[in-house]
Amino acid sequence: ARVWRGLIEEYRDRLPVTDATPVVTLLEGGTPLVPAVRISQLTGCEVRLKVEGLNPTGSFKDRGMTMAISKAAEDGAKAVICASTGNTSASAAAYAVRAGMTCAVLVPNGKIAMGKLAQALVHGARLLQVDGNFDDCLELARKLSVDYPVALVNSVNKYRLQGQKTAAFEIVDALGDAPEVHCLPVGNAGNISAYWMGYKEYAADGVATRTPRMLGFQASGAAPFVKGEPVLKPQTIATAIRIGNPASWDLAIAARDESGGAIDSVTDRQILAAYRLLAREEGVFVEPASAASVAGLLQAAEQGVVKPGTRVVCTVTGNGLKDPDWAISGAPAPTVVRVDAHEAASALGLT
Ligand code: F0G
Repeated sequence: ARVWRGLIEEYRDRLPVTDATPVVTLLEGGTPLVPAVRISQLTGCEVRLKVEGLNPTGSFKDRGMTMAISKAAEDGAKAVICASTGNTSASAAAYAVRAGMTCAVLVPNGKIAMGKLAQALVHGARLLQVDGNFDDCLELARKLSVDYPVALVNSVNKYRLQGQKTAAFEIVDALGDAPEVHCLPVGNAGNISAYWMGYKEYAADGVATRTPRMLGFQASGAAPFVKGEPVLKPQTIATAIRIGNPASWDLAIAARDESGGAIDSVTDRQILAAYRLLAREEGVFVEPASAASVAGLLQAAEQGVVKPGTRVVCTVTGNGLKDPDWAISGAPAPTVVRVDAHEAASALGLT
C-alpha cells in the first residue's frame, strides 16, 4: 500500500525546500474529497467537500505550518510566534513541539473556541489573551517578531501559503482536472490566495486544463472585502473568521479578479444553517466558520451565480470538535433514563 508521507514529501518538487531543510511534519494533507449528496441535490451542482478538519490538528493550518516551521528550523529559529483566532495557534503549538521550539501565541481574549484554546495549552504554548481583536493581535505579533528573536508564522510568512497551495494540487490530482468553481471561507485571506497559487501553478504546467472561479465568503459582520475597506469592529459567531483587516488583501483581490470570481458575505444565520445541514445531511461535522463556504454556495446557486451542472469544490476548513458549543446549544437536552429496557425504548420512541 502507498503511504502518505506528508505534503512536503508528496509535493517536494513544487515547494521551496532543499536537502538542507529539516522536514517538520505530522503527515498533514492528503485529506478526503467527499461527494456532498444533499448539497448537490439542493444546488443541482456536482459538489464535493475538501474536508480539512481531518488534518493532524484539525484544520487546514497544518499545511502552512509544516512549511513555516520547517523553514524556521532551517534558519535556526528557537522560538516562533503567531496571532490567531485559534486554529493557527493550535497548529503552531503542535508543530513547534515536533521541532523542539518554544511557541508564543496571541489570541483575542474570550473570542476563541474552547477546543482551540485546549490545543495550544496541551502542546505547551505560551498563550496570551490580548484585550483586542485578531487584527490587534497580528499587529502585536509582527512588532514582537521584529524586535525579539522569534519567528512569525502567520500567513504573512511566505512559506505558509506555499504549504497551503497543496490543497489545490490534491483536488486536481483527485479529480483529474480543476473544478469549475471553488468556494471557501475568507478571514485573513491567506487560504484563498494559496489555493489560487496552486491552481494557477498546475494550469501553467499543464497538469490542469483550467482554473476555477474562486468564490470567497466572509461573515456579514466581518466582511471588509465586501465593504471595500477594513472593518474596525468585526462581529460574527464564526470566531475563526472574525477579522476586519485581512493581511493578504491584495493577493485575495487578485485571486478574485484573475479567476473571474467574487468575495461575498453570508449572515451568521446562513452560516449556522449550513453548519447544521453539513452535520445532519452530509455527516460532516465542521466548525461554524468552515460552513461559510457551503452557506455561500447555497446563496450563489440561489442567485444564479453558480449554474446547475457546475463542478464545485467547497473547502470546509476546520473540525467541528474544536467548537462544540454550537452543536450542543442547538440540540434538545438528552434524556436521562434508568437501566431499564422499557424506559429506554419508550424514551427512544420505539414502542
Ligand atoms: N476557516 C477556519 C476554520 C479558520 O481558522 C480560518 C482562519 C479561516 C477559515 C480563514 O482562512 O484566514 O486564510 O482567510 N483562521 C486564522 C487563525 C485566522 O488564526 O486560525 P484565511
